[in-house]
Amino acid sequence: MLSGKVAIITGASSGIGRAMALKFAAEGASIVCADRNPNGPKQKETTHEHLQLRGDKSIFVAADVSDESSVQNIIQQAVREYGRIDIMINNAGIAHEASHPQPIWETTIDVFDSTWKVNVRGVFLGCKYAGEQMLKQRKATGRARNGTIINVASVLGILGKPGTPAYAAAKGGVIAMTRAIAMDFAPHGIHCNSILPGFTRTPMISATADVSDLEKELAKTHPLQRLGEPDEIANAALFLASEMSDGITSLNMSVDGGLHG
Ligand code: NAI
Repeated sequence: MLSGKVAIITGASSGIGRAMALKFAAEGASIVCADRNPNGPKQKETTHEHLQLRGDKSIFVAADVSDESSVQNIIQQAVREYGRIDIMINNAGIAHEASHPQPIWETTIDVFDSTWKVNVRGVFLGCKYAGEQMLKQRKATGRARNGTIINVASVLGILGKPGTPAYAAAKGGVIAMTRAIAMDFAPHGIHCNSILPGFTRTPMISATADVSDLEKELAKTHPLQRLGEPDEIANAALFLASEMSDGITSLNMSVDGGLHG
């Protein structure tokens, strides 16, 4: 479905980003794995090494998505290696509140600022610089898709959850930013959507105090009565990155097993 396409995936070393990188490569895309860490927790080989062992096309770029020159470098490395960018997935994110849920009166301004720095500023920079490159590459034809941007937000950006003021606000910001920039990019054939995962089995969730307690709670309160899997989020991203979704932009797509109605 993505033969000949070039995809940058931030946060590709772990969890959802890793699942996206493996799936997109299996569908024929050349991958730029961008992450501040080469490897995720408890993994034998990095995502990049895994792709190379499979014979897929991949490069790794060490990057901090909250840093402007670092994001510009991801774009430069991608264009140097592959000549273009077709898909930008702004997936890297942090959640202090996964391990330390705190009401606002206990949340420090440092937690708020650092959450926004990665989860909102990082997405803004990724959209800005990948979008600029896609604008340069665009073809004259009106109907062609000239690029795809996918931002990974969270269902908490709509629903909120006790003890997550910084994270929920940041993800709400990503949802609103996605809609705004989708309108900027739409006349240029660049599609911009976000995915709102629900609770998904990744190292981020493993950081929660007790995953088995969370699973027990979900079994009672969640429509599908279980955690989501990274591959399920990657499937949604594949749909949004492929021509199957040519009629869609500005969508905030929940992949949360029905949590958000
Ligand atoms: P994860 O912790 O397994 O992976 C996140 C990756 O992002 C890591 O490889 C980390 O090194 C990288 N990263 C963090 N800050 C970075 C920075 N400044 N620059 C470059 N890379 C950075 O987490 P997971 O669960 O795979 O999360 C992926 C995205 O999905 C995040 O945006 C998260 O907020 C979102 N999400 C996750 C949910 C879950 O239940 N796991 C639920 C809803 C949203």
